Amino acid sequence: MKHHQHRVEQDRRPQGLSRRALLGSGGAAALGLALSGGGASDVSAAVSGIGTERVDAAGSRQAGIARPRVAQPHLLLAVYDLTGDPAAVLAALGALILELVEGRDRALVGLDPGDLTVTVGAGPRLVAAARKDAPGAEALPTFPREEIDDRHRGGDIVVQVCASDPLLLPLVLLRLAEKTPALRERWRQRGSRGTEERVRRGHSAPRNLLGFVDGIAVPTTKEEFAASVWIPDGPAAGGTVMVVRRMEIDVAAFRSLSVAEQEAAIGRRRASGAPLSGGRIGDDVNLQAKSADGRYLLPIDAHARRAHPRPTGVPLMMRRSYSMDEPLGLLFISMQSELSTFTRTLERMSESDALLAFTRTTASGSFLVLPGFDRDRPLGSSLFGVA
Ligand code: HEM
Repeated sequence: MKHHQHRVEQDRRPQGLSRRALLGSGGAAALGLALSGGGASDVSAAVSGIGTERVDAAGSRQAGIARPRVAQPHLLLAVYDLTGDPAAVLAALGALILELVEGRDRALVGLDPGDLTVTVGAGPRLVAAARKDAPGAEALPTFPREEIDDRHRGGDIVVQVCASDPLLLPLVLLRLAEKTPALRERWRQRGSRGTEERVRRGHSAPRNLLGFVDGIAVPTTKEEFAASVWIPDGPAAGGTVMVVRRMEIDVAAFRSLSVAEQEAAIGRRRASGAPLSGGRIGDDVNLQAKSADGRYLLPIDAHARRAHPRPTGVPLMMRRSYSMDEPLGLLFISMQSELSTFTRTLERMSESDALLAFTRTTASGSFLVLPGFDRDRPLGSSLFGVA
């Protein structure tokens, strides 16, 4: 387990750094750096640009949430309806995922799966049919600023595919459709994440289309994940509740604000990511801090204040969102051990959140990310039984 974690932590950074540098003008210097720091295998990976570390699909928890530690740059997410017995469909899905990630499925012959992860969740209809009281059995309520038709609300199965190589993503979903005809696709969305920026030791985050670093205040340690992300017991133990929201953003309108106004809407500095209440990017926002004339440094409707878990009394959700170019916006993805962490946060934001005014949500769903699986424990078996 220790060894495995170490492998995952290496993920992306050595190749990402040296490859970008090698392609640019600093090539020779970067090569020297790679040679002195990494050893021969690192260099060959950097030059060819392939060979991101594999992320095990098998385990007590699914990949694509806390593993790899730094989310891959590309995502394709699809939502399906399911007909028939969930146990059989999920078992087939899990078996296919193991084959794909290990590079043994014929759909990927010649392609390196690299850091491919495929994460599967079950929608409220399926979960409630299996266990009425399980986390994820409850559907999301509706919220203001939604423009969602029936096709883009809810759904039985979510499949989140992430990888450093964007070519893999549609091939994986195509293979999945071939192997599991009981799934009928409702909608899909591509997303990408920009360059990672250092937040604090052991944690980095990319910017979103508004130019702000997004993903600063999230759980990062094992203890924090245990406290707010992983479901601790019952048949869904080791799973988590995923919320997906396709949030279109009026980027042009947001950009027409001055940078100071943009920062007031978010609650952090745009360039540095530092809280408006002071400190550095890795610091928590201070909700109490006031100026000499008695005004809150973090404005009353700043997103980081409205979304902050403390006044709402919920644990800190895990956000693993991806930016979208078509439509322009954010595919918001959060994981939490209870759906109420998300609903209570968005309720509080909906009362007054300066950022929300620039968004409309056009697809939405919540799903129980099923506990981890392997060859002996089929995907979904702890909830739906063995087919
Ligand atoms: C277009 C939509 C959104 C954008 C562009 C966005 C962007 C951001 C940014 C830039 C931050 C500050 C940096 C950070 O801590 O990561 C932030 C913080 C946060 N956002 Fe969002 N966000 C969006 C929607 C949402 C939604 C729908 C929720 C949940 C209902 C949410 C929950 C949070 C939380 C919990 C924080 C951390 C607050 C803290 O503890 O400091 N965000 N978001």
